[in-house]
Amino acid sequence: MKRGLFITLEGVDGAGKSTHLEWLAGLFRARGHAVRVTREPGGTPLGERLRALLLTEPMHAETEALLMFAARCEHLHALIRPALAAGEVVLCDRFTDASYAYQGGGRGLPAARLAILEDWVHGGLQPDLTLLFDLPEALAQVRRAATRTADRFEREQTDFHARVRAAYLQRAARHPERIRVIDASGSIEAVRAQLEQVLTGWL
Ligand code: TMP
Repeated sequence: MKRGLFITLEGVDGAGKSTHLEWLAGLFRARGHAVRVTREPGGTPLGERLRALLLTEPMHAETEALLMFAARCEHLHALIRPALAAGEVVLCDRFTDASYAYQGGGRGLPAARLAILEDWVHGGLQPDLTLLFDLPEALAQVRRAATRTADRFEREQTDFHARVRAAYLQRAARHPERIRVIDASGSIEAVRAQLEQVLTGWL
């Protein structure tokens, strides 16, 4: 059987990617695909327990990176690889680009360190397509404030989030064949129109 499709959604906190996740799943389901919606950190019982720690417990930046990849390792073994092997579409809310953006850009860990973990944990697997929801930090800040109580990452200062955004855009420039930048500053309809365009050929 043909391997399924692996699509990841990325962006700074407040970019609105989660709003579009179920809608994207609906697009694929409407065309008869089996779709698995999942997230990182999380996606498995162990991953969700690690997520609870990662979002609340103060820890060293290296510990944070290692736990992100530990959760990812479990996620790949228990859910992502089996679902892809079964031919499903896997829609994942954040993946390894988030580690380069947050632990690399935000916390300042060297990308070379993260690349070692990526090689180990991915074993060559990469998303087929990554949708990077991008918007100016000032707007992201307004959206974060309007929507929810802040977790450990969302409580970080403006310059942290600005570094995260810059690191994401750098990743997009380095991997233009995989990462498509979506302008997330407009209305839900405007973002959907861009998503439909990008997904032409994938659906
Ligand atoms: P979420 O709010 O999009 O569900 O993601 C939870 C937080 O985890 C978000 O602030 C970004 C952070 N994160 C990292 O710092 N590194 C990672 O590798 C991942 C997957 C998420």
